[in-house]
Amino acid sequence: FSINQPYRTAFHFQPHHYWMNDPNGPMIYKGLYHVFYQYNPKGATFGNIAWGHSMSRDLVNWALLPLALSPTKSYDINGCWSGSATILHGNKPALLYTGAGPNQNQTQNLALPLNLSDPFLVHWVRSPLNPLIAPTSENHINATSFRDPTTAWLGHDGLWRILVGSQRRDTGLALLFKSKDFVHWVKAKHPLYSAKHCGMWECPDFFPVFINSTFGAETSTLPGKDFNVRHVLKLSLNDLIQDYYLIGSYNVTRDRFIPDMGLKDTELSSVMRYDYGKFYASKTFYDDAKKRRILWGWVKESSVQKEYSQRGWSGIQGIPRSVWLDESGKQLVQWPIEEIEKLRSSKPFIWHSKQLQPGALLHVPRVTAAQADVEVSFEVQDLAEKEEEWKQSGRKMTDPQRMCGEKGGIGPFGLLVLASKGLREHTSVFFRVFKLKNDSDNSTKFVVVMCSDQSRSSLDRKNDLSSYGAFLDLDPLHHKLSLRTLIDHSVVESFGGQGKACITARVYPTLAINDEAHLFVFNNATSNLKLTTLTAWSMKKARVKSINI
Ligand code: FRU
Repeated sequence: FSINQPYRTAFHFQPHHYWMNDPNGPMIYKGLYHVFYQYNPKGATFGNIAWGHSMSRDLVNWALLPLALSPTKSYDINGCWSGSATILHGNKPALLYTGAGPNQNQTQNLALPLNLSDPFLVHWVRSPLNPLIAPTSENHINATSFRDPTTAWLGHDGLWRILVGSQRRDTGLALLFKSKDFVHWVKAKHPLYSAKHCGMWECPDFFPVFINSTFGAETSTLPGKDFNVRHVLKLSLNDLIQDYYLIGSYNVTRDRFIPDMGLKDTELSSVMRYDYGKFYASKTFYDDAKKRRILWGWVKESSVQKEYSQRGWSGIQGIPRSVWLDESGKQLVQWPIEEIEKLRSSKPFIWHSKQLQPGALLHVPRVTAAQADVEVSFEVQDLAEKEEEWKQSGRKMTDPQRMCGEKGGIGPFGLLVLASKGLREHTSVFFRVFKLKNDSDNSTKFVVVMCSDQSRSSLDRKNDLSSYGAFLDLDPLHHKLSLRTLIDHSVVESFGGQGKACITARVYPTLAINDEAHLFVFNNATSNLKLTTLTAWSMKKARVKSINI
């Protein structure tokens, strides 16, 4: 597969070959980070799913280890599907995963390290008691919709608890199971949470977050006198291939999750997402070395199967992100782990205080634009006075993706990335600011949308060229509009407002590849804009090495 490979990533994790989907069982053990992933060791399309395994000291450079699990037992013969790691008492890691058996019947299974003194955790041994949890006629579990166990947490009663994603008719379920010994599991009477009309819930994730702190909370931290925590439940909606999260309270006595705002299919657009682009089957873990919670997510291809099977690989992981609760308590904030900054070139290109006239398009020189980390911030001037211009923006504004293409606000302004010289190809990541008037009390407020437009990202029209948009909860009167974009050949991963809204896109330019890729800042607004700062780093390549053991 060494033929022309302009789309392979330099610092977004991917194995050397073949198909990868969900991140599985991320953890830190004896100071080493591990991440497993859904992997086809035989080809670049979905199938033969095993657990790929890699290990790292810094979450940036990776050693590829032998497969941790392969489909060999009757209960996982059709695939070792997604699951999670839990560090049990005495610092013993354990993996719970879904076995896809005959007829795609799904069960939950346990694997333990063969040798705990091996910090690489190369060999994993299945429990002889597998499958530990299986659908039966008594437990009413839908056998083909029962998968993806979470990391376990401990209740006050000392019992372990896990969630498993499921569906019953059109109700999505986060089924709850409890165990004393991690082997015998009992289904709780009620799911931890369920909601109608939203299909199968894959890859649930349930974790605490501290109020007013960027530190992560260990997964078993419970709400109570000593800990100021709230809980987050993330669900991967199989119908949409999108991850949604809810913030709420965990009632430990009733073992129920009560979201501040529930999940309703009719109002999905108001439910928070980690990422409004391509980002699925994500999962967090607690990093006790740096006291943070880290999020991994699968970023699938946007090209057609024929193309990626010819390329010989498919699927990458997003840059691991630290996650914490925003000051408002209403959303999470995400930021690329600090270690990624090690790959930044020592001499970034910098601009300070530049005035951008309407129509301005500035080329950012001296950076490898196909492999870069760019931070930029803008100040919209005279915002308060410009009232008259956007009166028409009283229209219903609930769909940020649509608003990305709407006139009547300030904007668009932002970055053109992976752009060819004549701009025939480019991906634009930008903001628009709208002024909304509340007719009942005559008050006004500003609404900011962040957008990633892939419609001109490639001359090859076979790719999925959808555009994405998200609301950015930020008051542009008092705050700068900041954007950080990680550009890595075929991925554009953007963080708006210091991580309040994220959008990841996959793009496959035909002209704007490697040295032919360019980076621009633009202002297509009708008013002046101040670029307060821009810093663009060329990025080095991360090391990914196979280790033969
Ligand atoms: C999510 C998912 C999981 C399943 C795995 C199979 O992408 O469908 O529900 O366990 O992928 O690879």
